[in-house]
This record gives sequence, C-alpha cells and structure tokens, in this order.
Amino acid sequence: MKKHVVVGANGQLGHDLRARLEGQVTGLTRPEFDLTHPEMMRARLTELGPDVVLNCAANNFVDRAESEPDAAFAVNAFGVRHLAEICRDLNCALVHFSTNYVFGLDAQRRTPYVESDCPGPISAYGMSKLAGEYFVRATCPKHFVIRTAGLFGVWGSGGKGTNFVELMLRLAKEGKPIRVVADQVCTPTFTVDLALATIALIQTGRYGLYHLTNSGSCSWHEYAQTIFELAGVQARLTAVTSQEFGAPAARPSYSVMASKAYQTLGFPQFRPWRQALVDFLKERSLSQ
Ligand SMILES: NC(=O)c1ccc[n+]([C@@H]2O[C@H](COP(=O)([O-])OP(=O)(O)OC[C@H]3O[C@@H](n4cnc5c(N)ncnc54)[C@H](OP(=O)(O)O)[C@@H]3O)[C@@H](O)[C@H]2O)c1
Repeated sequence: MKKHVVVGANGQLGHDLRARLEGQVTGLTRPEFDLTHPEMMRARLTELGPDVVLNCAANNFVDRAESEPDAAFAVNAFGVRHLAEICRDLNCALVHFSTNYVFGLDAQRRTPYVESDCPGPISAYGMSKLAGEYFVRATCPKHFVIRTAGLFGVWGSGGKGTNFVELMLRLAKEGKPIRVVADQVCTPTFTVDLALATIALIQTGRYGLYHLTNSGSCSWHEYAQTIFELAGVQARLTAVTSQEFGAPAARPSYSVMASKAYQTLGFPQFRPWRQALVDFLKERSLSQ
C-alpha cells in the first residue's frame, strides 16, 4: 500500500486530493508542516517515510507578492527547494503544482501553451512559482510538476479564504456592482477533475512537466457571466480592461494551456470548464 503525504491539505486542491487518493494518506497543514521551516519538514517526512509527497501549499497572494516578494519566494521558491531536497534524500516522488502565471511575457500569444514553450512570467508571484518549478526539476529526479489555472473547489480556497466563484456569488448576493476584466483569457479548472487526473498521472510513473486544466477558455468576465447564468443569480456585472481594474500585479492577457504531455500518455482531454462548473455548483449546493 503506497504512503502519500499531502502538504497544504486544507487548501481547495489539497482537500480534494486527500479525499480521493488511495492507500495511506496523511494530510499536513501549515502548523505541523511549514514550508519555511526546513528542519520541521525534514523531521516529519523522515518519520512518515512516504512514497509520494503532493505539495498543494503555496503563497497564492498574487497582488500582495508585488509588494512582498520575499514572502512569496520564501514559500513558493525556497520552501519548495527544501521540500525537493528532502524528497530526493528520502527517494520519494514529489508532485508539485504550478501555475499558468509562469506565462505572459509574450503579449501577442493567442494559441494554447504546451509544456515545451518557454515560460516568461510578468509578476513576482509568477516568478516565485517558476523558480519553485526549476528547483523541483533540478533537485528531485522523481518529480511531477503540474501547471494548472483558475482553480475552483467546493472546499473554498484555504489560503485565500475564497475562490473566484465564491467571490462572485457573494458580491452578487450583496447587490454590489461587480467589475471583472474581459481582456485576460485562461481556463477555469475544477479541483476534482485536477485531483483525479493527478492520481492517474502518478500511477504512470512518467515523471516530468505537465499542463492540466479543464478544456476550452474564457475571459474572467465570460466566466463570471457563466457563473451567474448557471447559478440563476442576478448580478450588476460590468466588463472592464485590466488597466481600468488596476490590480497591483500584471496578469497574462492569454495563458490558456494545452494538456499535450498528458494526452501523449493516452489520457483524454479534460471535459470543458463549463461542464465542470455545472457539477461544482451542484456539489456546492449539496454541501451547504
Ligand atoms: N487557486 C488558483 O486559482 C490556482 C491557479 C493556478 C495554480 N494554482 C496552484 O495550485 C496549488 C493549489 O492551489 P489552491 O488554490 O488549492 O491553494 P489554496 O486553497 O490557497 O491553499 C494553499 C494552502 O497552502 C497553505 N500554505 C500557505 N503557506 C504555507 C506555508 N508556509 N507552509 C505550509 N502551508 C502553507 C495554506 O495554509 P493556510 O490556510 O494556513 O494559509 C493553504 O492551506 C498551488 O500550488 C497554487 O499555486 C492555484
């Protein structure tokens, strides 16, 4: 029976992975496994002796990372480097999650990125995540680095305390005017679909870099419109440009990714994001 350790176990992805992995599963949260405390990490993992560590923990505060890059790098780059060293020393596999925000520098790009495309982040967060990817790939031979995008999960976002769907539904309920950018395109992704694909991928033993998202794409404004349509909610929604919105961090205008490496292994493309969103909203209403 394989021993799995899920780091960042209370985040939205950590929760869904923990619930679906087979074998022995230990979920670790920040107080007992902090990515900025290497000795704590080494002691805990040595004691547990896992076959596979799945790292779902991250500093995901994209805007805050612009003014606090050290905090983002401490977790997303150097913390991940320590984790990769420990996994290498314990000869266990490391599954690490990264982001579509490692792209963006090519402002003209309008076709999905594949794994062999050169990344180019445009934010401190994206740079910290890219550094983390490189540390994993250079340090721990048995690795899966999985880039994903726009996660929504029923357990909300542990780190941020919300996700985009929850935020939109809360703002609509409060009757507030809602401004959402229409010039950033990516692929919203259901954490359940990502968790199931990750588990299938681990079983292949084909280590490497993978893009895993639902299929299709939309702007954040189209995504918000779809959330309100499917949830049957009235909202005061306006489309704005990124410049009008004025977020502290720049985000890619196009960061759609194709799951090419995953499909090359014989797996099917993920279902469309809209279909996944229907299931998410059903599951969400059952859990409330
Ligand atoms: N959310 C997205 O839209 C998105 C998009 C692309 C990629 N990703 C990547 O996908 C992965 C999972 O994202 P998610 O949305 O599931 O994350 P999440 O819900 O925000 O959860 C992140 C978890 O990381 C933990 N954490 C933060 N700092 C830590 C530290 N120093 N040590 C240990 N744990 C720490 C948080 O714990 P606390 O609750 O104690 O803070 C939280 O439980 C991440 O690698 C993320 O970068 C996410």
